[in-house]
Amino acid sequence: MKKITIAGAGNVGATTAQRLAEKQLSEEIVLIDIIEGLPQGKALDIWQSGPVELFDTKITGTNYYKDTADSGIVIITSGLPRKPGMTRDDLMNANADIVKSVTEKIVEHSPQCIIIMVSNPLDVMSYVALKISGFEKHRIIGMAGILDTSRFRLFLSQELKISIRDIDAMVLGGHGDSMVPLIGYSTIGGVTISKFLNEKKIKEIVERTKNGGIEIVNYLKTGSAYYAPSSAAVEMVDAIIKNKKRILPCSAWLEGEYGINNTFCGVPVKLGSKGIEQIIELELSHDELNALKISANEVSKNIKKLKL
Ligand SMILES: NC(=O)c1ccc[n+]([C@@H]2O[C@H](COP(=O)([O-])OP(=O)(O)OC[C@H]3O[C@@H](n4cnc5c(N)ncnc54)[C@H](O)[C@@H]3O)[C@@H](O)[C@H]2O)c1
Repeated sequence: MKKITIAGAGNVGATTAQRLAEKQLSEEIVLIDIIEGLPQGKALDIWQSGPVELFDTKITGTNYYKDTADSGIVIITSGLPRKPGMTRDDLMNANADIVKSVTEKIVEHSPQCIIIMVSNPLDVMSYVALKISGFEKHRIIGMAGILDTSRFRLFLSQELKISIRDIDAMVLGGHGDSMVPLIGYSTIGGVTISKFLNEKKIKEIVERTKNGGIEIVNYLKTGSAYYAPSSAAVEMVDAIIKNKKRILPCSAWLEGEYGINNTFCGVPVKLGSKGIEQIIELELSHDELNALKISANEVSKNIKKLKL
């Protein structure tokens, strides 16, 4: 792929640019932000690490959308992050205005792109991008499930003292307090985690996963997580650019899958060069399906509150 644009040169945006460059996933990366000098300075700084890190990717910063023209993938990270005491939903109206204006300009200059949404509240912002862009649903993908799953896998690995390489898991649902870690699909070397941990321990780890974002917000105080979120976004880019057909939990627009209609929600999707190439419908327990529907309903209620 020739060009990837990252809208928002803040913590998540700049770290994503760095990770993409170091993995040489595209020829060119453009960082765009409303703050003059910020994307230019960060882009040049990252680019200057190329001779040491040995990447040839060109990285530029700009405040003008014409410089983002013909991007194949656009990652939207522009918006406010959470501060202590805030939920992701508290960001909704401010970030909806930002994501709306960014999407309008992105679509004008890169009408064929795939959009990876990162801004919070994630599922609602993915809807804003879908509605404003008029793109087909497979070209708007929300990043959340990979991050939530990564946190869940790490906490399991810490508890069990087993390499994260051998721990598979799946966290579905909206990116918020109602996310749904699937215990039945969480395995160690192929064996369900219930064989390794009792119910109380699993519950504790699930709770820590649900609060994984706020745990970091409370430490940082002035912003939210960005190292792990940027890794998750880059994993999605990698799957799309290399047409890997990976099965990853992402936020997707659902039209009847899992009995959920007209909302974004985290589900396993097949990611390839077209974006979301398939939504995978796992067999869920009655409780898990219920929890997924409740989670999707939360997103749906927030979408209805939007004034676009
Ligand atoms: N989906 C997830 O799992 C996840 C994880 C982490 C962060 N986030 C979200 O990602 C967003 C970014 O987080 P961050 O830590 O990088 O915040 P940040 O404050 O460091 O960066 C945000 C950047 O967006 C820019 N911006 C604001 N309005 C803009 C506009 N109209 N056009 C272009 N740029 C604009 C700001 O100038 C700033 O540089 C937040 O909404 C945060 O909640 C989501």
